[in-house]
Amino acid sequence: MQHKDKLMTTTAEIYTRDSTPDATTFMSARDLDSHGFFVTPLLSPGQSILDVGCGPGTITTGLAEHVFPGEVTAVDLSPTQTACARRLAEGREIVNIHFATASAYELPSRDCEYDGVFAHALLEHLSRPMNALAEFRRVLRPGGFLAASSPDWDAFEINPYPQPVRRAIAAYREIMKAHGGDPCAGAFLAERVEISGFTLLHRGSWKEEYEDTSFITGYLARQLVAARLPEHAEALNEWATNPRASFRQQWNYVTAAKPSYRGLRSLVTE
Ligand SMILES: C[S@@+](CC[C@H](N)C(=O)[O-])C[C@H]1O[C@@H](n2cnc3c(N)ncnc32)[C@H](O)[C@@H]1O
Repeated sequence: MQHKDKLMTTTAEIYTRDSTPDATTFMSARDLDSHGFFVTPLLSPGQSILDVGCGPGTITTGLAEHVFPGEVTAVDLSPTQTACARRLAEGREIVNIHFATASAYELPSRDCEYDGVFAHALLEHLSRPMNALAEFRRVLRPGGFLAASSPDWDAFEINPYPQPVRRAIAAYREIMKAHGGDPCAGAFLAERVEISGFTLLHRGSWKEEYEDTSFITGYLARQLVAARLPEHAEALNEWATNPRASFRQQWNYVTAAKPSYRGLRSLVTE
């Protein structure tokens, strides 16, 4: 058996990084305040929330604290990630999270089950984001909300940006695409959410600036090495030694509601 590192879904989509300790460390730097701030105005005690692609759970635990005594269901395709998130929740004595290892395309949930669905850094890894959005809509109650965020690599600000680094970033983007993902998914997020039948509440973007540029370049470089592209990895690592180097990653986010059609029903009965 190959390493779980390469998870395949029914569409031969590959989530490249999966559950390597490297990826887990990288994702674990996030929390609700830093990366999920756009959902907090919609959270309230008692809600039931689904976190799809929960990863190591550092954002999930923040969701759980906000909705307590409501509950969060945390789903990830990788059993290593759900196990990691479970350990984190147990360590923090958070009792209102349920975990499930499942695909965003086939959620283990009933129709209209949740008050909110949250998907951070997931849709850019999916070859069929519209199918996942339809599934999110299915499990949301009418009037429930979706909050999602994905990066737009076209809007990243990398300075300085010499040719070898451009080529390395281009190579990394190609790896993402070859694995069924879309580095610019964030650019299409709002449009896709609307086409999926949600009413947009808010859209926005922010730039994540890496104080230590080697945190992000090292992460990308290790994946380039794994893809047998060491020259690109080297270019990134060397770039990060420049004390004036800056790497600003663009995240686009949306919040949206599943229409309740109450208005339509009243039109029909009148
Ligand atoms: C980039 S990580 C994001 C983790 C977390 N949401 C965060 O932002 O820190 C993407 C996560 O989505 C999961 N994933 C990838 N494809 C998936 C799918 N089809 N269904 C459910 N989870 C998936 C991966 O295993 C991984 O944990």
